[in-house]
Amino acid sequence: MMERIVDGGRFIFDGCNTVKLAEKYGTPLYVMSENIIRSRCREVRGDFIDKYENVRAVYAGKAFLTMTMCKIIESEGLGLDVVSGGELYTAVKAGFPMENVIFHGNNKTPEELQLGVNHNVGRFVIDNLYELELLQAIAKESDKKVKVLFRVSPGVQGKTHKYISTGQKDSKFGISLDMEIITDAVKKAMDYSHIELKGFHFHLGSQLFENHIYVTGIQTIVQLMKYMQEEIGFSAEELNVGGGFGIYYTEADQPKALAFFVDTIMATAKAACSEAGLKLPQVIIEPGRWIVGEAGITLYTVGVVKEIPGIRTYVGVDGGMPDNPRPALYDAKYEAIVANKADQPLEQTVTIAGKCCESGDILIWDLQVPKIEPGDLLAVLHTGAYNYSMASNYNRIPKPAVVLVSDGKAGVIVERENYEDLLRQERIPQYLMKEEQ
Ligand code: LLP
Repeated sequence: MMERIVDGGRFIFDGCNTVKLAEKYGTPLYVMSENIIRSRCREVRGDFIDKYENVRAVYAGKAFLTMTMCKIIESEGLGLDVVSGGELYTAVKAGFPMENVIFHGNNKTPEELQLGVNHNVGRFVIDNLYELELLQAIAKESDKKVKVLFRVSPGVQGKTHKYISTGQKDSKFGISLDMEIITDAVKKAMDYSHIELKGFHFHLGSQLFENHIYVTGIQTIVQLMKYMQEEIGFSAEELNVGGGFGIYYTEADQPKALAFFVDTIMATAKAACSEAGLKLPQVIIEPGRWIVGEAGITLYTVGVVKEIPGIRTYVGVDGGMPDNPRPALYDAKYEAIVANKADQPLEQTVTIAGKCCESGDILIWDLQVPKIEPGDLLAVLHTGAYNYSMASNYNRIPKPAVVLVSDGKAGVIVERENYEDLLRQERIPQYLMKEEQ
């Protein structure tokens, strides 16, 4: 959980006075702490990469990706997981080393696959046979051999929201663990001239706190590896176990250190492989939320304070669902503090309402705050993952700026959108103009 440092009643985040940040950059404002991001990356290094042999960690860019983020990830020695042409393009433009990129996606288009081939991405994670065939054709045409993993769905269900649970059998992700189907896929990959199959991938879900589902997932895939080795002579060199490690949002969450997950993952992989008589493959993890979630806050200016006598007090803020759709989508919970009154006693319970025309646009129900009034600054905590990356322009609300902070220094990494930006891609068809004449 983020340390709450207060100076003169103001909430300080990575050495920066949040009230001054809001004055300088406006609100709503995403603020990302470079120090927290880097310390998470270093925990990955210390407790996983440096501790175990033949392992790799890639940051799942879907949680938060900008060119600056690519630079930070690269300098910390992690690889990058991208899931679309747009994420890949961001990494390319940031000069990220392409051999350390893993390209995911359950329905990559031919154009996206081509982009990946052109840029020599390190691994393609193949979701289905159709994609395998497409990639073989594209790689052949480009005269390149590409390295791939097969994503499989191990039939394991974690305790999380159903929209972010992915490892179960009935899932749109991955190749089904039906032995006939998967054997056929592996045989095809082995036969294809421009494909080099390196191993298997699974991802069980997100915001997970239990490690036993990784145990089941790994044991299942090691059984699959054994079967492939014995039946068709395919030996997997890599086992990618995805991400999903949970973080703190509210007291209901009990986040664990990374070691809690990776020690179990490694011990399970070693034991299962030795029992199956297999060589331990390279083990890869893909944390996203765990790296950036607790590294971000969102600052909002309070507007209306509306009391419904005897029922509740709604506090309207100048953002909401467009910059943070998670409460509306997943019933996600957040904590927040009044950043300009961070030393004042909590004396009121209020509900933080976003500004969209939707009753579901409520950021936080029943938040304890000091006496709150228009003009106050609200800091919603732990918004670093899946907020900026999932932001929309619903109600034609321009997206906030993103500022990176570090030891009291601050710099914009994404400019705030303006109304012109909202219209930039718009055209009025010629035929309508003619009709008007
Ligand atoms: N690897 C793969 C293949 C994934 O699909 C994901 C997340 C990750 C890694 C990273 O998972 P993480 O470590 O961040 O849990 N929008 C949702 C989360 C969707 C996660 C999708 N896949 C949310 O806001 O909770």
